[in-house]
Amino acid sequence: MIYSRIAGTGRYLPERILTNADLEKMVETSDEWIRTRTGIEQRHIASEDQRTSDLCVNAAKIAMEDAGVTVEDIDLIIVGTTSPDLIFPNIATIIQHKMGIPACAAFSVEAACTGFIYALSSADKFIRSGDTKCALVIGAEIITKLIDWEDRSTCVLFGDGAGAVILKPSDEPGIISTHLGADGQYKDLLYYPVGVSNNLAAAGLGDSRIMMSGNEVFKVAVKTLGAVAQEALDANGLSLDDIDWLIPHQANLRIIQATAKRLGMPMEKVIQTVQIHGNTSAASVPMALDVGIRDGRIKRGQTLLLEAFGGGFTWGSVLLKY
Ligand code: UT7
Repeated sequence: MIYSRIAGTGRYLPERILTNADLEKMVETSDEWIRTRTGIEQRHIASEDQRTSDLCVNAAKIAMEDAGVTVEDIDLIIVGTTSPDLIFPNIATIIQHKMGIPACAAFSVEAACTGFIYALSSADKFIRSGDTKCALVIGAEIITKLIDWEDRSTCVLFGDGAGAVILKPSDEPGIISTHLGADGQYKDLLYYPVGVSNNLAAAGLGDSRIMMSGNEVFKVAVKTLGAVAQEALDANGLSLDDIDWLIPHQANLRIIQATAKRLGMPMEKVIQTVQIHGNTSAASVPMALDVGIRDGRIKRGQTLLLEAFGGGFTWGSVLLKY
């Protein structure tokens, strides 16, 4: 039986930091409101000339070094993102070209904040099938390009970044299970109104900003993230005691706390980065994973539960032994 196993991780955050104090000068908000409602203290913002693929390349290089692999080894690239460089070619091919990775399958998946979980789950299946020997899997966003900096209800929430993992075959898990889901009936609660076949001409004309019904998204997020974690545990006959670390999507500290409480998971076993990264959409889970590994909390052999929830709504989990 072939399993897939995380051989290395990396993250990259743009240099520029935007603090709550900075935002106080831009919109009618306060550090106190942002901290108490979201837990966020700062977020990183990409520079004008940075593309999402640049963030990906930086994170990928670190993950490849960590895994001890070279560009010649990579035979699959999957990127979860909602903010690709271009509509096409897909961002994975741009990364492939920038890094000099030889010809291989390269594609992106769009599942909003769940993008990385969808990407990791897909790569797992390629490896298990025997088709892939070394996958580069990335979650990345320059989501702040989609933000209306005059809309205080959304501009305080988001940040940019990229997280990458190298996935390789192994005789033992590795990834134990993945579960993906979506329910399109919620599309109007969180969306971006401009697309290729919908309203493309309106881009830049004022109505192109993230639309979010915050309260309703909050409630479904807590319910779904709790259920997603439970689904993964039940499918494997495990209990919360078997999980060393929960690594949830980092949208709002209150959502993370409420989910942990619902599950009965102590916050000490939950990796939290929302305070310093903000909501980085598809980049949040792989960056949180990398933070936990590099600061020494997450150790080889431990059991991790990764989960995310986002626009669509989409959701998913990956249960794995690191
Ligand atoms: O990434 C995947 C999906 N996204 C999420 O999971 C986000 C889910 N939602 C949330 O995190 C929260 O709903 C928010 C952080 C977006 C909002 O927090 P809330 O506690 O639900 O606040 P609210 O929307 O109910 O707004 C409360 C008040 C309102 O004023 P009134 O109507 O009570 O007078 C807002 O106008 O806070 C006001 N408000 C602000 N005040 C200061 C909204 N944004 C701000 C702001 N600064 N930035």
